[in-house]
Amino acid sequence: MSRPRIFVPHDAGALAVGSDDVERAIVVTLRRRGIDAEIVRTGSRGLFWLEPMIEIDLRGERIAYGPIAASDVEALFDADLLDGGAHPLRLGRPEEIPFLKRQTRLTFARCGLVDRLSVADYRAHGGFKGLDRALSLGPAETIEEVVRSGLRGRGGAGFPTGIKWRTTAQAAAPQKYIVCNADEGDSGTFSDRMIMEGDPFVLIEGMTIAGIAVGATKGFIYIRSEYPHAIEVFGRALKIARAERYLGPQVCGSTHAFDIEIRIGAGAYICGEETALLESLEGKRGMVRAKPPLPAHHGLFGQPTVVNNVISLASVPIILAEGAAFYAGFGMGRSRGTMPIQLAGNIKHGGLFEAGFGVTLGELVDDIGGGTASGRPVRAVQVGGPLGAYFPRALFDTPFDYEAFAARDGLIGHGGVVVFDDTVDMARQARFAMEFCAIESCGKCTPCRIGSTRGVEVIDRIARGENRQANLALVEDLCATMKFGSLCALGGFTPYPVLSALKHFPEDFGAQPDRAAAE
Ligand SMILES: Cc1cc2nc3c(=O)[nH]c(=O)nc-3n(C[C@H](O)[C@H](O)[C@H](O)COP(=O)(O)O)c2cc1C
Ligand code: SF4
Repeated sequence: MSRPRIFVPHDAGALAVGSDDVERAIVVTLRRRGIDAEIVRTGSRGLFWLEPMIEIDLRGERIAYGPIAASDVEALFDADLLDGGAHPLRLGRPEEIPFLKRQTRLTFARCGLVDRLSVADYRAHGGFKGLDRALSLGPAETIEEVVRSGLRGRGGAGFPTGIKWRTTAQAAAPQKYIVCNADEGDSGTFSDRMIMEGDPFVLIEGMTIAGIAVGATKGFIYIRSEYPHAIEVFGRALKIARAERYLGPQVCGSTHAFDIEIRIGAGAYICGEETALLESLEGKRGMVRAKPPLPAHHGLFGQPTVVNNVISLASVPIILAEGAAFYAGFGMGRSRGTMPIQLAGNIKHGGLFEAGFGVTLGELVDDIGGGTASGRPVRAVQVGGPLGAYFPRALFDTPFDYEAFAARDGLIGHGGVVVFDDTVDMARQARFAMEFCAIESCGKCTPCRIGSTRGVEVIDRIARGENRQANLALVEDLCATMKFGSLCALGGFTPYPVLSALKHFPEDFGAQPDRAAAE
């Protein structure tokens, strides 16, 4: 009989609520009871309210228990944990938990399931099939496959990934680069971190396919310093991939060379913007570059460079493995495939929800997320990070789709959904958006550098009830200047949260009867 296996997540979200303590308690209990079992450290399934969620393998089927504290472990073994025994914390088959059952896991198919640092486990679950196919298709056909899949950049701008690759491939240069953007600065987002910690080989595979497709032999991954676990796991995965010849001078015995180096960001939000990121990678201060030239023509060290988000690159292996038509078969309109949506903020069931584009905001927040964690009514939802609009309940029928959100003056960005209950003060949120822009501005252009500071002052005046109408007009005028006059989306999109707060929640901007009467 094979050794029983116990799966314990090592994701930062699970570690933060004690999964290492749980593992230690399991080790002690196994030793004391003389049981020979294997503990496998995985990523997270992304059901964060159930973490630490452990699983056991019951004759090829997983049974989950959670949320587990170290003090629960003895009782779980008394209840026959290794045989899937009954216990109040028993959740049953994880795939049957509604939050997971309703998902379409393509990019996150292995996350939380496999030993994150085992190539054998990765391969056993379909890993490196995409790279094998890319090697047999050749660079040009690989790019066309990505174009046909309809994959658009998951970092925020939604630019077609295949077109970006084709542009870089067509540029003639002695050296080209793949740069993976793992700065993940948007509020409420964690999908990049989860995949780097839970399934690092899928990102290595995606970056390698990109390198072979465009003719780049060198890749860099720019990871934010706030992600120490991701940096550690990804670094270990790189060493393993090199040792197994998935990286190096002859990738999988082919004529293609490719290797990846980790660079650590220092915590500036603007360093997630692709050109500021390239400056930072070159060892300079993170300042935005004017475009053109595009990074695809003139990127890192002046060479043609593909800059892609973690999730864009991690979605490539399944596209190659299953074919463009398979991937494009999910989604709606021009938003093809799946989106790993991250439910955060004041939400009952926070976590990672990967689904085909088209699921509505209301389904996500009320149904899947279960409403607020505080139990109070949901009042506002900010989608797309700190530059995303605030949506009121009246817009909860908006489907998750790039164009549908844009049509309602919003953006889906990196897929972060941050929920607020009815205690939120939207004037404070609008002020915070301007303040955030003022703090994070790289300072290169005036509308953003000066406009954001003036924006904080004007919102303060509105909140104090000073010349309300005149100052409201001024803030709208200022937002128009920032939107149309800024060099990049930090200054250009800060008006979205500000104007949406003003439009949908005017009562929070001093419209109370006492203030109105004073005017
Ligand atoms: C202020 C600002 C911050 C950004 N931060 C990130 C980030 O943290 N991660 C990311 O992938 N893209 C970020 N982007 C978008 C990148 O500039 C770029 O569009 C993206 O990395 C391209 O990859 P994709 O096409 O795969 O999305 C940011 C953009 C702006 C304007
Ligand atoms: S909009 Fe702001 S962050 Fe972007 S280039 Fe201008 S000053 Fe820099």
